[in-house]
Amino acid sequence: MKSAAPIAAVLASAASTGWALVLPAADANRGCSNVSHDVLGNSFCREVEQITYTGLAHKGSYQAVTSMGDSADQCGRQTKEYDAPLGVFEEELSIHIRGPFKLNQMAVYNFGCVNETWHRVSYYNASTQEADNLVFLGNYGGQGSGEFDFPPMIYEYMQVVGLADRTIVFDAHSVWGNSLSYINADATAGSETPEILADVEIPSNKEFAVFSGQKCNGACGFSRVEDVAYHGFGGGNKAFLFDFQMPLDNTTGFNADMPALWALNANIPRTAQYNKCSCWPTCGEFDIYEVLASGDSRCKSTFHAARRGGTSDYFARPSGHAIKIAVVFSAKAEAVSVRVLDYGTVFGHHFTDATVDGWLEGPVDRTAVSTFRVTE
Ligand SMILES: *[C@@H]1O[C@H](CO)[C@@H](O)[C@H](O)[C@H]1NC(C)=O
Ligand SMILES: *[C@@H]1O[C@H](CO)[C@@H](O)[C@H](O)[C@H]1NC(C)=O
Ligand SMILES: *[C@@H]1O[C@H](CO)[C@@H](O)[C@H](O)[C@H]1NC(C)=O
Ligand SMILES: *[C@@H]1O[C@H](CO)[C@@H](O)[C@H](O)[C@H]1NC(C)=O
Repeated sequence: MKSAAPIAAVLASAASTGWALVLPAADANRGCSNVSHDVLGNSFCREVEQITYTGLAHKGSYQAVTSMGDSADQCGRQTKEYDAPLGVFEEELSIHIRGPFKLNQMAVYNFGCVNETWHRVSYYNASTQEADNLVFLGNYGGQGSGEFDFPPMIYEYMQVVGLADRTIVFDAHSVWGNSLSYINADATAGSETPEILADVEIPSNKEFAVFSGQKCNGACGFSRVEDVAYHGFGGGNKAFLFDFQMPLDNTTGFNADMPALWALNANIPRTAQYNKCSCWPTCGEFDIYEVLASGDSRCKSTFHAARRGGTSDYFARPSGHAIKIAVVFSAKAEAVSVRVLDYGTVFGHHFTDATVDGWLEGPVDRTAVSTFRVTE
């Protein structure tokens, strides 16, 4: 169990950027008197309704992928530097979801410095099938869009048994598996063209990703398949609202009944989410709501990057009913906050800065609020 952030540090950095938000000092160094561990060694402390992370501000670098060749050792890389109040998390993020998961609504907001307002840049509504400036992708390359080739281990096996050179498929590409692709409306397979996610429950061990609706057109750096390369959600001040449920499906096996909602540096899936030729983990992953064991009713959050860590405090898995949450990335406050919202919150076109600051700051009653400082 790591101790929570000294709030003085938060206030000091806030003062240096002119940020006026004051987080009550009561959260500082809150100990966990009752930590428990699951069989995998994950620790759990207490259920909360808000978690605020600090400590992300720093200057660093990662090895960005610049090319993917025809063999597993042909993964070109180049150092990419960053220096920002939220570190690498100010870069573009893609949103990732694993079932069992029912996404009802999702909205993305950016902060406009000119009018000091948070304006909605992307929106999805399952029941009305509205999908404004976002695209649903998955790792189904080869099924209508994207690319497929064989993972190195299978290729090596085929070479050993003497089949590699007899199979035409192996001649062209034979290393990287499935690339990103468009997905069908049920998020269960690939598709030739973009489709709007239907009003469905995503089953266990199925995943999909959400990117902005803006094609990269070469402007995102290297992507394995440029045809399905879309921008993520960038900037230091961005907020994501989700309306979702994580029903129990009671299945067992790999990734079964283990829903998750997380964000990745969008460069990761654009090259390879599940093989070595990506900038993961240094370029950034934020697990927002992740169930770590089949059928568990607790959702943890963790940062994986040069600055990393996660609190042992957890959110209740919304298995029986949908909830709404706000995930606020605030360069202004040098903090990232995940907060359960009143279910009456409407995902409208605008929010005032005061409203979003309120989500970041949390309620006056601190009993269900956790703070955590990530470190190197
Ligand atoms: C400690 O945690 C367990 C569950 O892990 C819970 O049943 C128990 O009530 C907790 N005790 C206190 C004093 O909070
Ligand atoms: C979007 O979906 C929710 C239910 O999931 C519904 O209550 C709401 O009215 C819809 N919003 C809009 C703007 O259509
Ligand atoms: C604020 O500015 C953004 C562009 O930066 C614009 O999209 C939005 O409509 C503006 N909001 C208001 C309330 O004027
Ligand atoms: C899974 O189990 C829970 C509680 O035991 C139950 O409420 C739920 O209906 C079950 N779900 C399915 C899909 O069987």
